[in-house]
Amino acid sequence: MSEKTVPTARRMSLIPPYLFAEIDRKVRAKKAAGIDVISLGIGDPDLPTPPRIVSALQEAAADPANHQYPSYFGLAELRSAIADWYSGRFGASLDPETEILPTLGSKDGISHTPFAFVDPGDVVLAPDPGYTPYATGAIMADGEPYMLPLTAANGWLPDLAAIPADVRRRAKLLWLNYPNNPTATVAPDEFFKQAIEFCEANGIILCHDAPYTEIAFGGYRPHSLLQFPGGKEVGLEFHSASKTYNMTGWRIGWIAGNASLIKTLGQLKTNVDSGIFQAVQWAAIEALRGGEGDTRAANEVYYQRHLRVASVFNGLGWNVTPPKATFYVWAPVPKGYDSISFASHVLDQVGVNITPGVGFGRHGEGYFRLSVTAPDRRLDEALERLKGLEV
Ligand SMILES: Cc1ncc(COP(=O)(O)O)c(C=O)c1O
Repeated sequence: MSEKTVPTARRMSLIPPYLFAEIDRKVRAKKAAGIDVISLGIGDPDLPTPPRIVSALQEAAADPANHQYPSYFGLAELRSAIADWYSGRFGASLDPETEILPTLGSKDGISHTPFAFVDPGDVVLAPDPGYTPYATGAIMADGEPYMLPLTAANGWLPDLAAIPADVRRRAKLLWLNYPNNPTATVAPDEFFKQAIEFCEANGIILCHDAPYTEIAFGGYRPHSLLQFPGGKEVGLEFHSASKTYNMTGWRIGWIAGNASLIKTLGQLKTNVDSGIFQAVQWAAIEALRGGEGDTRAANEVYYQRHLRVASVFNGLGWNVTPPKATFYVWAPVPKGYDSISFASHVLDQVGVNITPGVGFGRHGEGYFRLSVTAPDRRLDEALERLKGLEV
C-alpha cells in the first residue's frame, strides 16, 4: 500500500509528528555523514541506573514467579512502596489499594488519561510551551486542546483567570507540570492552591505531571499536588522512576490521587496493556525504598553542569540563571533567528543538537531548550564549540 492510499484516521492528521522523532532523523543524517554530533536535545539522564536497582532487576528477572503476566494494577508491594515514598517525601497519605496505579512510565498515564475522561467536544487545558502528549492525548481522544500560554511575563505560570467561561464549562482536564519542562521553572505554593480552587469551582480534573520533583538544587524541594489540602480530591499526579533514578529505559511510573479517578483509569488500563514486567516492578521497589543518596549525587552532577552552562551562556550574552530544578536550560534565541532556524544553525555550524522552543508549542517560539544530561566531557566540548558559534 502506498503512503497515499493508507486509509489514515482523521485524528492522525491533527497530530503533529513527535518533535524528537523529527530531530532524531536529522541528527542521524548528520551522524551518517560522519559529523560528531553532541546531543543536548533530549532529557534522558546519561548517568547509569544505580547498581542496587540493576541488581534487584537481575535477581527478579531470574525468578520464574516474575515471568508470567503481571497484575494489571501492579504488585501490592510496589503500591505500598509508592505510598510510603509519598508519605516520607511529601507528607501526603495515599491508600495503596485505591489511590495508586502503576503505569508504563508517566507518558503511558498522560497519553491515556483523556481516553477515560474526555468525550468529543470536551476541552483539555494544557500549557504552551509544554510536554506535547498533553495536547496529542486530548486529540487522540477526540477532545479539543485549549492551550494556556506560559510566558516570561507571567512567570511561566498559566493565567487561569483568563480562561473564557465557555472554555471552562467544556473543560474536563487541566494539565500542569512543575518543575516544568521545558522552561525549568517551579511553582509557588500559592499557585497550587489557586489551581486546586479553580478545578474545584469548575468541576475540572487537575492533572499534575510531576516527574521532576526530585531533580532540584540548592536545597530547594519541589512540591506534590497531593500535599495540598484538596489536591487529592480534585486531581491526579503523574510520576515516574525515569528521571529520579536514571530509569528512562525501564518504563515504570505511576498515577496517584483521587480513588474514583484511579478506579476509572484502572478499568481503562485493563483494556490497553497487560501490566509492567514484575522484575521491573521489584527494581522500582528497590529504587523507592533505597533512600535519596543516588538522586542527590546525580543532582550534584547536574547542578555543576548548570553552573558551567550558565557561565558560558552569560559570557555569550545569552542571559540565563541556573534553574532551581530540572536538568533543562531554557534560553532566548539570539536576535535574528527563530527557534528552528537557530537550532538548525547550531547543528549545522558546530554539530550541537538543541531543541527549538516552538517544538513545545507556539509560545515556545523565541527560545531553545538544552538538557544537561550529556557526560561532562561531551557537555564541556559542546560549550567550547558554542563559544565559537558565529551568530
Ligand atoms: C514533563 C514530562 N512528563 C512526562 C515525561 C515522560 O517520562 P516517563 O514516561 O519516562 O516517565 C517526560 C519525559 O521527558 C517529561 O518531560
